Amino acid sequence: MTASGLFISFEGIDGAGKSTHIEALAQVLIEQGREVTLTREPGGTALAEKLRALILNDAMDAMTEALLVFAARRDHLQRCIEPALAQGQVVLCDRFTDATFAYQGCGRGFDLEVLQYLEHLVQTVKGLDGGFVRQPDVTLWFDLAPEIAAQRLLGSRVPDKFEAQPVEFFARVRQGYLLRLQGEPQRFVRIDADATREEVGHCVRQVLRQRSFLA
Ligand code: TYD
Repeated sequence: MTASGLFISFEGIDGAGKSTHIEALAQVLIEQGREVTLTREPGGTALAEKLRALILNDAMDAMTEALLVFAARRDHLQRCIEPALAQGQVVLCDRFTDATFAYQGCGRGFDLEVLQYLEHLVQTVKGLDGGFVRQPDVTLWFDLAPEIAAQRLLGSRVPDKFEAQPVEFFARVRQGYLLRLQGEPQRFVRIDADATREEVGHCVRQVLRQRSFLA
């Protein structure tokens, strides 16, 4: 856990159903007396939300997309996430950097080494003892086969630029998440999202209890 607060991110391909579980978890944490900041990426600040609208709707190449996503992340970290953690809050973030590796990296095919460089540059928090790269304390990856996720998304709303991608794109994104899990198995936890809402919710709480992040 970070010195004061707790930082949890939620990942998964579009249609995996993470949003429901973020809200439910926020409720449980509030009932347990924690102060919760519920936020998302791209977005979470006025500036980052403007960038989100561009990223989700405008056509652009993978590098432009990656740079905008990290620009939004920098603002979000500085103005929202870091201050909330410093106050001892629990930050629940709907997507974070793992999504950039999965979507822009593996989905779009953008250079993973450049993403790693940007990750270090953007997420370095300077402190008296030098500094460190901010990462979530735990990341919950809602894993679902792209074919099933596509079925779930059908007819739910007008798809954005990413939601309109074919199943093959999401198969690559899923591989991207798998790579992140293999790189950081302590932080990154796979949750089988091909189950009922109750079962998935139970699994989320269990993972957090095992880490003493939840009473
Ligand atoms: P999403 O989190 O699914 O929000 P909603 O449920 O409101 O649609 O949408 C965000 C989209 O942004 C999603 O398709 C993935 C994409 N994205 C990236 O491509 N790279 C990133 O770094 C992040 C954070 C998101």
